[in-house]
Amino acid sequence: MPLPQEFLEELKSRSDLTEVASSYVSLKRQGRNLVGLCPFHNEKTPSFNIYPENGSFYCFGCGAGGDVITFVRKIENLDYMEAIRFLAQRAGMTVPEDAADNGLMKLRTRIYEINRETARYYHQMLLSPQGKKALDYLMGRALSVKTIRHFGLGYAPPGRFSLVDFLGKKGYKEDEIVSANLAFRGRSGHLIDRFYDRAMFPIIDLRGNIMAFGGRILGPGEPKYINSSDTPVYHKGRNLFALNFAKDSGQDNLILCEGYMDVIALHQAGFTNAIAGLGTALTPEQAKLISRYTGEVIASYDADSAGQKAASRSIPLLREAGLNVRILVVPNGKDPDEFIRSYGENGHARFQQLLDQCGNDVEYQLEKARRTVNVQTPDGKVAFLESAVKVLATLDNPIEQEVYAGKLSEETHVERTTLLSQIKRQRQKQQKSERKKEFRSFQQKRIGLKDSVNPEKQDKLRAAGAEEALLAYLIRYPEASLQIFQQLPPEKFSTSFNCRVYRVIMDRMKEGKSTDLTDLSSVFSPEEMGTLARILAKVADIPMSRKDAQDYVKVILEESQKQMLQKNSSEKDLLAYVEYLKEQKTRKQGD
Ligand code: UTP
Ligand code: MN
Repeated sequence: MPLPQEFLEELKSRSDLTEVASSYVSLKRQGRNLVGLCPFHNEKTPSFNIYPENGSFYCFGCGAGGDVITFVRKIENLDYMEAIRFLAQRAGMTVPEDAADNGLMKLRTRIYEINRETARYYHQMLLSPQGKKALDYLMGRALSVKTIRHFGLGYAPPGRFSLVDFLGKKGYKEDEIVSANLAFRGRSGHLIDRFYDRAMFPIIDLRGNIMAFGGRILGPGEPKYINSSDTPVYHKGRNLFALNFAKDSGQDNLILCEGYMDVIALHQAGFTNAIAGLGTALTPEQAKLISRYTGEVIASYDADSAGQKAASRSIPLLREAGLNVRILVVPNGKDPDEFIRSYGENGHARFQQLLDQCGNDVEYQLEKARRTVNVQTPDGKVAFLESAVKVLATLDNPIEQEVYAGKLSEETHVERTTLLSQIKRQRQKQQKSERKKEFRSFQQKRIGLKDSVNPEKQDKLRAAGAEEALLAYLIRYPEASLQIFQQLPPEKFSTSFNCRVYRVIMDRMKEGKSTDLTDLSSVFSPEEMGTLARILAKVADIPMSRKDAQDYVKVILEESQKQMLQKNSSEKDLLAYVEYLKEQKTRKQGD
């Protein structure tokens, strides 16, 4: 059921894009518009624009764009209805209940409910006589009852149908339980619990909903953990374990660990800023998510080779997300949980020492470069310095470069100035290739050549250009649209995306509805909204007259005519060819 128009109007008027965006982006006024660093890609010079006049944003760097709803969808990873809810909550409004009556929305709500019931059930099990084995296991790993409650840890009992029976009695449908990934169908068609005889770790989102579970075997054995697969409410690669707590830690950094147990042990020891991935390698989305809550991340990876590999994969991702990265290596091959436990009462103090000492990723990378060669030999030394220069060339801060060049010079007895000039050369080289890449994609995006939303544009540039300008005109001056609708039927459009936009605007106008960008975002995907925002941004500071609009209409009609002729002539050609073939055939038969 669509949302009532009055509700949308009210929401729109209370959700100012500039206000909403400024809690994510620092914006500067520039003429009538605002600019800032784009939150959707990494850049050093601002190309993210907000146009308060029509409530749109557009980034000339990455092509992201749209209205306030598109902005929220993109930055919070939400679907349309969730973004509406998000904005409504912010504006102190309630979304009309019947509007939520949509299949997927309903299923998601049910899954959250099922997850909550399940977490409660597992938790009760853990604290019941049945759960003694699991409770002993967790307490044996030095977790207090308080910590167990705080994280909502639980126990999935050994029966293969315990949870399924419990949820069935509560009235949840089999399909819903399967969608929540808490059970699967056996060969006979019966549901079977996904988790059994495991210690359970609920995974909670930033709004406090339980999204999924991880389950650990009680003791040695394989697989050590079983995790929920992705479901309609859960995407491993987009979430982080314990970020719901860590975001409120009040610390100015986050500690990124490898495992659930590390995070829990750290929180128990007072480091409530610890988080972890969810059983997969760190993703760019997770790095971006971290950068929304902090400027610095301390990556704590196990000292084993798997841990070190994971660390070197993650560092570039974290850096690219604009984060300061420090690397903490726990000594003696321990993970943070084992380390803290091994010091008992002094766990906090000892781990704090590690935090205080841990170097940034530059030192870490230099150390790695050093270890891979033999710096005692001249060849080894040269190889080491070459990789060291590459590492230092990635630093934006000249003071940092100076400091490290000084240290390296002392270590290798190569002149500091020589090192610095090498760093400079390397940096120029890197920047040049980066700029080239950036410029190329910028060009393509700006003229909208590589347009996946409107792929026909490439071959119909003149028509598409006029169509885009006309659409911008219609959105800007809706009062002038009636005349245009009379002159220009939608079939005359040469590209189907623009035609669709035209039809939507036309239909809405005829029904007396408004055609703000925000009204269009219920119809178009975020990507399509980006294209619409680009179309508007292109003419943002250019006045458009009725005469201009007439010119666009003229070009659209001309181009449509031209294509008709072309199509006809190619059809004629084809007919002529068929005739020719027939003739050939009859001639052959005649021979
Ligand atoms: P670890 O083996 O370091 O787990 O794996 P841990 O949290 O320290 O667990 P303990 O201390 O042995 O109990 C790191 C993370 O990798 C994922 C889990 O997210 C785990 O926390 N993992 C590991 C799996 O998903 N499956 C596995 O079988 C193992
Ligand atoms: Mn561990």
